[in-house]
Amino acid sequence: MLNFDYYTPTRVVFGRNTEAETGKLIREQKCQKVLVHYGSGSVVRSGLLERIYASLKAEGIQYVSLGGVVPNPRLSKVREGIALGQKEGVDFILAVGGGSVIDSAKAIGYGMTNEGDVWDFYAKKRTAKACLPVGAVLTIAAAGSEMSNSSVITNEDGLIKRGYSSNYSRCRFAVLNPELTYTLPDYQTQSGCVDIMMHTLERYLNHGTNMEITDGISEALLRTVIKNAQLLKKEPENYEARAEVMWAGSLSHNGLTGCGTDGGDFASHQLEHELSGMFDVTHGAGLSAVWGSWARYVYKERPDRFANLAVRVLRVSKKDSEEATALAGIEAMEDFFRSIGMPVTLRELKVEPTKEQILKLAEKCSFGNTRTIGVVKKLGREDMAAIYRM
Ligand code: NZQ
Ligand code: ZN
Repeated sequence: MLNFDYYTPTRVVFGRNTEAETGKLIREQKCQKVLVHYGSGSVVRSGLLERIYASLKAEGIQYVSLGGVVPNPRLSKVREGIALGQKEGVDFILAVGGGSVIDSAKAIGYGMTNEGDVWDFYAKKRTAKACLPVGAVLTIAAAGSEMSNSSVITNEDGLIKRGYSSNYSRCRFAVLNPELTYTLPDYQTQSGCVDIMMHTLERYLNHGTNMEITDGISEALLRTVIKNAQLLKKEPENYEARAEVMWAGSLSHNGLTGCGTDGGDFASHQLEHELSGMFDVTHGAGLSAVWGSWARYVYKERPDRFANLAVRVLRVSKKDSEEATALAGIEAMEDFFRSIGMPVTLRELKVEPTKEQILKLAEKCSFGNTRTIGVVKKLGREDMAAIYRM
């Protein structure tokens, strides 16, 4: 087991009706004025936003609101939030929504507490020194932003989607009521399940050795999401299934399933971010569309770990060789994705990049041929293009 630094400061308040506690949770942060940040309307339609306002009012907390965050959240909305937050003198940002809203809130938090252009952090030009406190009321189990240290923003100028990670942005609290996810369209539920699995899979497939406890946690998490994603296909209002998936989503991206490993691979994520930057696809669906091709491209580097995935998570019986077991596992994973209605190719994702677009995707993903991605196998620009072609 390698050395690690596991930092998970987010307070989690989990269960039915927990959104009613939001006001109290902010009061405990000793903050005076809140920017309530939300998406394109689901929280208005469901009545959640009104309940949040009532909870703030009950504690005498002042607030202003900014809605309109879209999936693959945009830099222009972040700038709007920074300007509003500064004008109104807010000292806390409450994200009511999914990963996109939370990520937008984190970026506003950076912009309000650091000099200069907030995009600099995402462009990796400099690092942030602070972030305004952020809290989340989560409405979709997926990105794990409610406990992660990262945020991902799309700059409309060039359609560049980039992440930035720092512990300053970790949510002070996350309110997780599984019932709030009942209203999700099935496609969003299942995309979320894929994303949750990927956050653990990207860490599970690595070059480490002797990680019994981390492997065990990861395998249990993956099996749990597979089982409950299938259940939610038939029973979207099954509370226990929603609860298992929601808690898995937070645990999958708070660092737990990477403890003691040699760091996450995250190549599939990097490949996907270029797809959602260029084509605005749903993140989880983009991940299932590239994962199989990535896996086939790299599995020979660590057939043992791919074989473990096959046998322990996907219940594949052992074949004559480790490589054959590994390949059967990749197929079983794709069968699972299909079974929950998720694409396993770009065509199924309804994205058919031209030859030029594939080169452009690879060029952007390799930062103009200046970086490699991945840990299982380091991938350069030509590897990226090859995987997109697959
Ligand atoms: O905007 P509204 O109207 O709320 O609709 C949203 C949106 O259209 C809808 N939705 C959310 N909760 C709902 C609901 N509809 C009905 N009922 C509800 N309860 O679902 C759609 C997707 O929402 P979004 O916030 O985009 O989903 P998700 O949580 O999957 O976030 C995706 C974003 O997170 C980034 C992704 O790249 C993508 O931009 N990620 C962030 C990470 C992080 N910060 O740690 C890690 C991830 O790997 C990921 O990259
Ligand atoms: Zn993800």
